[in-house]
Amino acid sequence: MKHKDIIDQMTLEEKASLMSGKDFWQTMDIGRLGIKSIFLADGPHGIRKQAAAADHLGLNPSIPATSFPTAATVANSWNMKLGRKMGEYLGEEAIVQKVNVLLGPGINMKRNPLAGRNFEYFSEDPYLAGKMASSMIKGIQSQGISACVKHFAVNSQEERRMSIDTIVDERTLREIYLTAFEIVVKESQTKTLMSSYNLLNGTYTNENTHLMRDILRDEWNYDGVVVTDWGGSNDRVAGLKAGNELEMPTTAGETNKDIIQAVKSGKIKEQVLDENVDRLLELNFITEEAFEHPKKQFDMEGHHQLAQKVAEESIVLLKNEDNLLPLKKDKKVAVIGEFAREARYQGAGSSIVNPTKLENTLELLAESGINNIGFEQGFNRYGKKSQRKIDKACALAKDADVVLLYIGLDEVTEAEGLDRENIKLPENQIDLLNALYEINPNIVAILSSGAVVEMPWIDKVKGLVHGYLSGQAGAKAILRVLTGDINPSGKLAESYPLHYEDTPAHHYFPGKEVSVEHREGIFIGYRYYDTANVNVLFPFGYGLSYTTFAYSNIEVDQEGVTFNITNTGSRAGAEIAQLYVGTQSDLIFRPKKELKGFNKVYLQPGETKTITIPFDDKTFRYFNVKTNQWEIEEADYEIMIGASSADIQLNSTLFVEGSGAPLPYEKNKLPSYYSGKINNVSLEEFETLLERKVPDSRWDRSKPLGYNDTIAQCQYAKGGFARFAFKLIKFSHWFLRKIGKRSTANLIMMSVYHMPFRGMARMTGGMMNMPMLDGILMIVNGHFFKGAKHVLSERRQMLKAAKGNN
Ligand code: BGC
Repeated sequence: MKHKDIIDQMTLEEKASLMSGKDFWQTMDIGRLGIKSIFLADGPHGIRKQAAAADHLGLNPSIPATSFPTAATVANSWNMKLGRKMGEYLGEEAIVQKVNVLLGPGINMKRNPLAGRNFEYFSEDPYLAGKMASSMIKGIQSQGISACVKHFAVNSQEERRMSIDTIVDERTLREIYLTAFEIVVKESQTKTLMSSYNLLNGTYTNENTHLMRDILRDEWNYDGVVVTDWGGSNDRVAGLKAGNELEMPTTAGETNKDIIQAVKSGKIKEQVLDENVDRLLELNFITEEAFEHPKKQFDMEGHHQLAQKVAEESIVLLKNEDNLLPLKKDKKVAVIGEFAREARYQGAGSSIVNPTKLENTLELLAESGINNIGFEQGFNRYGKKSQRKIDKACALAKDADVVLLYIGLDEVTEAEGLDRENIKLPENQIDLLNALYEINPNIVAILSSGAVVEMPWIDKVKGLVHGYLSGQAGAKAILRVLTGDINPSGKLAESYPLHYEDTPAHHYFPGKEVSVEHREGIFIGYRYYDTANVNVLFPFGYGLSYTTFAYSNIEVDQEGVTFNITNTGSRAGAEIAQLYVGTQSDLIFRPKKELKGFNKVYLQPGETKTITIPFDDKTFRYFNVKTNQWEIEEADYEIMIGASSADIQLNSTLFVEGSGAPLPYEKNKLPSYYSGKINNVSLEEFETLLERKVPDSRWDRSKPLGYNDTIAQCQYAKGGFARFAFKLIKFSHWFLRKIGKRSTANLIMMSVYHMPFRGMARMTGGMMNMPMLDGILMIVNGHFFKGAKHVLSERRQMLKAAKGNN
């Protein structure tokens, strides 16, 4: 232990006190030993430090900070150097604001396009997500503070996120859901990691010793701190045993008592507690060093410029018929669409950043050089239809050579705590597009959304520029792409399906009651579309440029692959070359190809560069469930260099010696997985893959409700009062939506409807404790008077104890 001398001086109570927050954002301090509180703040794409009222829902404002593009956007840059730079700037702002731990980045896999927090995550591919997040973390931590990679692990849906049990087989877990975390832990030495809310194969991730001990600590040698997601601690002692140093936010000491009790009764050894304290102290002391000579301010303009640069490199040009873009100077341009008036530039929930300034498209038009003939809103931001707005937009479009149409998703549709209902654009925007198309077909759409949308309307636009959620400087970045000041170089970090029904997990997403089954296994994103030959609208890795590139001269050896790229067009530009690997053996099922490396290269017109992408420990490996470790299958491998996952420019084969492991599967028992057609996997086949029975995914309505059941389950509670409360919540939700208060309606779903009862004690900063919650549960389970009496008497005792302590 690094801090044994200090730990030896601590009482048991002091040690336990460090294991949970002092308040919503800070850890406990122990003045007599010189241990200060440290401050944790959201992230991930800017600092969200709340000076006054605290919340994790994005309700109360925070101190202004640069709002960089969100992870879903940055991922499209495929530029690790830029990711690192952004990390450095985030770290610097964290220091100025005295934040020790920045709660980000989030690197969960985009299993399904409906997942509400996709805008905050990087990719459907673990390699790309891991590499981009690693570079960002290196940048953040280079400033002396800590990043906090989240949410570990398999937190791929928002619905019932605090109580859903994620059922996933070990190979899928390792290859898809953990690889990005593995890369981050090993390559960027993140000092903090946040456990997710959900259960993984029957155990809360925070208590899951397979995940937290066997994999994170023993295999990956992680020696940093694990913090719970806010309110995500279930059994504090089980969490501690699994190596969870810090529970957040405060429980006013209630769970510290559980720890003290467990040590005294011998349930856990004091040594376990000491080790946790040691790691927390290490985080505390090393991040505190960053404040020894603290910077008082940062270069706000410089950071804004970087936010713009990141946005510029992340914008993806998806369509450019008739070379409408870049806009010709003499063309008369009509700007239409609500999102030009007020940009959609970040997501909603705990990641909301209060920007230092916000670029506005309309204000920037004059200086952009665009020959703008006017602006019309065209549609209401939150979906309300208006023929008048459409008519006015059409009248303007009539006089234009080109229409710039700013469309996208609003901030209520894409939010933490809720999954999206569909992947469509709102109808009022499509109505507008249809009407405009009749008047003027020269339409360039500028799309703002943090996640995939379906585009049955794609033929009605000649140009499509996807800005994703491009941060506070995004509006300017987009204009610079439209005018050609910037040659677009982003490529998609996720696939765009033609229809939602084409997506691999759509039959299995979201889990609605007890569990969510990952029956599609390793086949998410392009791994599925490619292997099962399902057409997509835009494949993973796709993006256009104003110039063209040619690939040539592939050479492959055991170390890596070398090839040339030439800029064959007339403008300088950047190309993202992608290395995919597939095996020619069919003994073990695999995706047709998987991303194993990439390189973004800048080329002047006519210039050729030789690129080498080295192989690494992940290039040929697969996780073998028989040997329970990574193995290499002896086979011929196809080495592919692509401009996207669907556009392979060069290929070669390479024989690779194997590690000699026994075959893990019986092929005839897993037909869906061997064919890649995993759209309708039977329970029996999934159980074969899992090598165990799948638990019942439905609620057992006969059982009384307990701590980990959710408020939503009051619908079948024994207590009439609880059933009434449920109806009231449902009604309020419906009513709020009806009167257009969708954001407040969302909040009800997120912070009430899907909240487990335990949350009442864990998230109220000590206003309610677990014994009081027992009383509430009595009421819910049909013992109204007994329960009410219990609540009141426990509350009296709690207040008395609090008075005594003062
Ligand atoms: C989110 C985390 C966030 C935390 C603190 C939780 O609800 O899941 O991502 O860091 O709140 O705001």
